[in-house]
Amino acid sequence: MKGLITLRFKRASADYDILVTDEKPLISLSDKTSSMDYSSLVLVTNTIVWRLYGSIVSSLFKKKSPKCAVIVLPDGEKYKNLKTVKRIYDKLLSCNSDRSSIIIGMGGGVIGDIAGFAASTYMRGVRYIQVPTTLLAQVDASIGGKTGVDHPLAKNIIGTFHQPSFVYSNINFLKTLPKRIYMAGMAEIIRYGAIKDEKLFLYIEEHRKDILNHDPATMLKLVLDSGRIKADIVQKDEKEVSGTRMLLNFGHTFGHAIEILTGYKILHGEAVGIGMIIASRLSYALNLCKNDVPVRIEHMVKGIGLPGSFKGLDIESLSKAVKYDKKSNGNEINLVLLKKIGAPVIYKMDKRILKKTLTEVRV
Ligand SMILES: NC(=O)c1ccc[n+]([C@@H]2O[C@H](COP(=O)([O-])OP(=O)(O)OC[C@H]3O[C@@H](n4cnc5c(N)ncnc54)[C@H](O)[C@@H]3O)[C@@H](O)[C@H]2O)c1
Repeated sequence: MKGLITLRFKRASADYDILVTDEKPLISLSDKTSSMDYSSLVLVTNTIVWRLYGSIVSSLFKKKSPKCAVIVLPDGEKYKNLKTVKRIYDKLLSCNSDRSSIIIGMGGGVIGDIAGFAASTYMRGVRYIQVPTTLLAQVDASIGGKTGVDHPLAKNIIGTFHQPSFVYSNINFLKTLPKRIYMAGMAEIIRYGAIKDEKLFLYIEEHRKDILNHDPATMLKLVLDSGRIKADIVQKDEKEVSGTRMLLNFGHTFGHAIEILTGYKILHGEAVGIGMIIASRLSYALNLCKNDVPVRIEHMVKGIGLPGSFKGLDIESLSKAVKYDKKSNGNEINLVLLKKIGAPVIYKMDKRILKKTLTEVRV
């Protein structure tokens, strides 16, 4: 089983394909690299992914691509910084990588963001291939060309837009994910259903068991449908200027605030799940939608096994943290709310009334 998504941008040179497949060996990935011209391939991964998949990847590339280097980084968001990027530059230089080298980022969103950033800056930009191995990376981080690293004072604050040349999403990678990380990725899929596709939302409601059991046909459909929705949005707004990409923020404005309030102890997807519940309750409180919207969102988030709240969450600290959101503008904050499932609306709210409005909502 497989499916292909083709992204077309205004700049044709940015176009690329995403292959979603359940093939056992990574044949299509090696076929793809074989079909490209390059001087060397540099694989960037981390210790966990390398332990699980290193032997498959290296045997595949050794056969076809003798000029290949591997960089195995330590695991975790705390290594998503410029020091780690320098390690990649060092390796690229030591193996004489040039403008026609290709970097392959194989791992979750952390590896994809770091590898993409290194690729976009080394020699003013070389090509890179995304091989996302977490659900979140397959449905979100690997698509759309946002690359970057963290600064001690702010997450994802140093970065570029640099589209990959190819995305290879093999759903078999998902089988080795710890349950909590797998479920956190589901939050992003629920988000796509909520903002763009009521049928997808319904499908998740009806296939909860298959999702929990990693049923291949179900996961292939979810990764493909999500990829198509994200691709459609980013093609229209490659560099986040027209506002279309803002729709992806549903649940994320409150989610980011929750991540900060919990000192990043909660996973991003878990925070987004709670953020979607809050945003949908706010939509109802503002008379934008009927009550079935917050009810379905809450039922969905909790039913899939994500937390619906966290101990200590209160309106005072939440509204303060939201005010510092990167995407807010002066006294106004742009919130993505819902008119119904599948129909989002961008709601400009005066920050000064945010706390009062949130008081009408249970958090
Ligand atoms: N560029 C974008 O558009 C974008 C969008 C969303 C998120 N992100 C970024 O993505 C990052 C989060 O990504 P994530 O949730 O994938 O986290 P992650 O990359 O930290 O991966 C989570 C954990 O799963 C492990 N792992 C990866 N693949 C595995 C597999 N197949 N089996 C077992 N373990 C595996 C990782 O080593 C890690 O320990 C954040 O840094 C976030 O800023 C970027």
